Amino acid sequence: MNFRTTFPLGILACLIVGFSGTASPLVAQEVGHVPDEYPPGPLGEVVRLGEAIVWETKDHPLSQPYVGNQLNCTSCHLEGGTDPAAGSFLSTATAYPAWSPREKRVITLEDRVLNCFMRSENGTRPPYGSKVSVAVTTYITWLSTGAKMKMNAEKTLGPRHIQILDLDWKQASKERGLELYKTYCLDCHGQQGEGTADGPPVWGDGSYNDGAGLSRVDKLGSWLKVAMPLGDPSLTEQESADIAAYINSHPRPQFKLEEHLPAAEKMGQYNGQRP
Ligand code: HEC
Ligand code: HEC
Repeated sequence: MNFRTTFPLGILACLIVGFSGTASPLVAQEVGHVPDEYPPGPLGEVVRLGEAIVWETKDHPLSQPYVGNQLNCTSCHLEGGTDPAAGSFLSTATAYPAWSPREKRVITLEDRVLNCFMRSENGTRPPYGSKVSVAVTTYITWLSTGAKMKMNAEKTLGPRHIQILDLDWKQASKERGLELYKTYCLDCHGQQGEGTADGPPVWGDGSYNDGAGLSRVDKLGSWLKVAMPLGDPSLTEQESADIAAYINSHPRPQFKLEEHLPAAEKMGQYNGQRP
């Protein structure tokens, strides 16, 4: 798979220690890091499978049936979730099970993964215990190797979640955002937000739906600040906010929960071998 050759784990691990500005083991533990090795045996195979699905969600045969747009998990969780800032999966598993104010119940990491299929991927929720669900959850859990458990009693977010910028979001201007979009984003994401060979769609049918985190201007603006333009996230806070207002002023798929759930009898599965 191309991502294995492009991003060898060892190099990524060095980069992440580099980003955090120190190689002290304590900080590395807080920040989380990509483990040096895959677990042995079948567990390692499932970690790799989950990694492949995170990179190729819309095309991978196991996840493709559950995806309703042009996005992969790595489209927003950059570098397969190993980017320390932009939707990082490093240490994420330590926060789960967590309290979900939206669902008014405690949810597991698996639930959280499945929710991103329904909203950010505008698709259908894969069944609990299905191969795709277990593989992705296993990969994300592996990225918390060595990190300290700290279940989140307030929200479904891990220790490296996107920090919402302290801005007056009502002042975000989609008119200024249009001009900035033309300068910094259009080449890769297209005049109509439809995407190009160099970047996925940012609005319209191929994009995330209006139930997704990024459909909130404050979440999108805060993500853009640390994520885009790809490889050179250099926008000011105000620019990030203005572009977010512009992008989210366009239509995108509407989220209705019942359209994204599997049939009742498919909500759960027993995936073990019966003796
Ligand atoms: C359109 C962008 C987008 C896509 C695509 C996407 N996500 Fe997310 N995801 C988000 C955002 C935004 C959050 C909230 C993260 C934050 O606030 O730091 C999130 C949160 C999560 C979390 C919880 C992170 C935490 O800190 O607790 C998990 C786990 C997750 N996503 C998994 C996935 C998986 C697996 C896929 C692919 C099947 C996926 N996401 C696809 C945008 C996306
Ligand atoms: C060099 C090409 C490039 C530029 C320039 C660029 N992006 Fe992206 N963008 C990407 C790629 C590629 C991805 C998916 C990440 C991946 O697959 O690694 C992405 C992902 C995204 C996403 C999340 C996924 C989605 O499509 O909804 C948003 C939102 C986004 N970019 C907005 C922007 C904005 C706003 C700008 C301008 C400030 C910008 N990008 C500039 C290439 C680019």
